This record gives sequence, structure tokens and C-alpha cells, in this order.
Amino acid sequence: MAGPHAHDDNGQHDVTPTDAPTAGIGLYFGTQTGKTEQVCGYIKAEFGDAITDAIDVAEGDLEHFPNLNGLICGIPTWNTGALELRSGTVWDDLLEKIGELDLKDKPVALFGLGDSVGYGEDFVDAMEELHRFFEKAGAKMVGYVPLEGYNFVSSRCLIPHLNEITEPENGEKFCGLPVDEDSEGELTEERVKNWCTQVKSEMGL
Ligand SMILES: Cc1cc2nc3c(=O)[nH]c(=O)nc-3n(C[C@H](O)[C@H](O)[C@H](O)COP(=O)(O)O)c2cc1C
Repeated sequence: MAGPHAHDDNGQHDVTPTDAPTAGIGLYFGTQTGKTEQVCGYIKAEFGDAITDAIDVAEGDLEHFPNLNGLICGIPTWNTGALELRSGTVWDDLLEKIGELDLKDKPVALFGLGDSVGYGEDFVDAMEELHRFFEKAGAKMVGYVPLEGYNFVSSRCLIPHLNEITEPENGEKFCGLPVDEDSEGELTEERVKNWCTQVKSEMGL
């Protein structure tokens, strides 16, 4: 029965205004020196209005993740060789909380900034941690990338040996897109473009 505040609005309700995204695909990043944020700009250019503007996780609110249709998240690696908390950004403080969210079947694509020459033994390792905790939350992980075209010694991001130091010959795919602005910056544009096409398709956009 209609209560005193019922009104004929065809079932539509005003949503409380908020500066946080509540629909669409959220684009989030952590960074120390700005490169991951810069790559967000390339991704935003490919997706246009289908994704939010880039949001620094230092200012974003994880509570909004379940309201989104999907997520694209970027993470650099700074804590070389660390068993945990490898990014050296705010993501490290959020991993456990991400694991506690209910993101069942929500598509999530990751990209990781690293340096395949300077830090080739631990290439983009932090991306694996984000992958692990999003998977724990039930997310449907998309955006896996073949190893072809990358030169590195080892990484913890290789399927099927996630979270183990694995050499390329024993890996099948990266659990997201590695981006190397330090040593292979000239390849970034094409890598990002191809990946965005793949992620759009995998997210049904
Ligand atoms: C001290 C230091 C440690 C780094 N450790 C790693 C590493 O273990 N693995 C890796 O792939 N890249 C490593 N890098 C490279 C950074 O991840 C890379 O510069 C990245 O683009 C930085 O992203 P940001 O500007 O968004 O913070 C390291 C760089 C520095 C200066």
C-alpha cells in the first residue's frame, strides 16, 4: 500500500547526489611518480564515456566498488621483491578491504606499471596482489595478456603460477596488462590500445 510519501514517478527515484561513481566502469589508480595516472589518460581516451575519469585510490572510496558495473585498476610496483605490499602506494592499505567486498561476477581488468629492464626479475609484481584480492571478492577477472613482445627475467604475475616467481617459459599469460614506461615507453600506446579493445569486448561494451 502506498504510504504518505508515495508519488507517481513511474518508479524512478532521485539518487542522492554524490561525486562518487555509481554506474558505469570505474577507472582507479595508485601512483608514486604519476606514470600510472598518465596511462589512465590513454585508457580514458579509448573508452570515452563508458568509464569514469581516473580516480586516485587515495581519494576514492572502496564502498562504491559494488555499485559499479566493472572496474579498471592500475598499480605500479615499487617494493622490489617484497612478499606482500609490493606497490608502495595506497593500494597496499586497501588489499584486505578489497578482499572483503562482494564483487561477485563483476568484471575487473588490471594494468601494472613496471620496468622490465631495471627490475626485470620482479616485473610488475604488485599487479598479482590486486588480482588476488579482487578474485577473493568474487570478481570476474578479465584483460589477461599474452607474454609475446615482453622481455623480462621473471614475474609473480604469470598464469598459471600466480604469486610465484616464474620465468616466461613457464608462464602462459599476465594477469593484466604490463606497461613499461621506463624502458619500453614507445610500445605503450599500441599495448594500451589493443588491450582496451580486448577489455571492451570482455566487458561486453
Ligand atoms: C626504487 C624503485 C623500485 C622499483 N621496483 C620495481 C619492481 O620491483 N618491479 C617493476 O616492474 N618495476 C619497478 N620499478 C619501476 C616502477 O614501477 C615504474 O617506474 C613505474 O612506472 C612507476 O609508476 P608510478 O609513476 O605510477 O609510481 C621500481 C622503480 C623504482 C625507482
